[in-house]
Amino acid sequence: MAYHFSSKPSLISFILLTFLLFAESTFGSKVVDVNIICKEVQNPSFCSKILNSKPSGAKGADLGSLANYTVEVVFGNITKTIKLIKSLIAHSGKDLEAKSHYEDCLYLFGDESGSLGEIMDTQERLKARDYFGVITSAASVIANIEYCISGEDPQDPPYPDKSKLPQYVRFIEQIVEIILVISKYLTQE
Ligand SMILES: *[C@@H]1O[C@H](CO)[C@@H](O)[C@H](O)[C@H]1NC(C)=O
Ligand SMILES: *[C@@H]1O[C@H](CO)[C@@H](O)[C@H](O)[C@H]1NC(C)=O
Repeated sequence: MAYHFSSKPSLISFILLTFLLFAESTFGSKVVDVNIICKEVQNPSFCSKILNSKPSGAKGADLGSLANYTVEVVFGNITKTIKLIKSLIAHSGKDLEAKSHYEDCLYLFGDESGSLGEIMDTQERLKARDYFGVITSAASVIANIEYCISGEDPQDPPYPDKSKLPQYVRFIEQIVEIILVISKYLTQE
């Protein structure tokens, strides 16, 4: 960066220079087009629908605020999913297989080491601009919730879940995929 001031540095130019240096060191401010981000996920139209639902708009939004927004959406979805799982457990009655399946899922979603905890870590790491950390914790969200659907033992057939849970899980997975792409760009700044 080469800023030259023709006159003797005045207070104004000093302030200006400080501001420019500060702006230069503000990470997360890079703008990447939504279409470029969404080209990299399995379901591009879902991706652009989500990013464009950002209240202040996605056009021209920097990567940091897109990451913030998507993490917020997933946080809300995970909270909602935990409520759903609790109600599925409460309504499983004498169906012990269903009860045990949903209890496993509750553990994978809700426990501190489950996806709720992981998404909170993701938020913290985003704040700290630890983008590799964001990738790690977002990837654990996917790992945890996949176990809920497929079961921890690949030898066992997955539980034939007729509730809304698989649909909720799919939704979360697709948003986390977007977070992973955005974080990849953030690490490249
Ligand atoms: C993301 O949100 C955090 C607060 O949760 C805030 O400190 C940070 O400035 C936000 N970053 C962007 C780029 O919007
Ligand atoms: C996830 O959250 C978004 C935004 O709050 C909402 O529109 C969507 O319906 C939620 N989806 C699920 C499956 O919870």
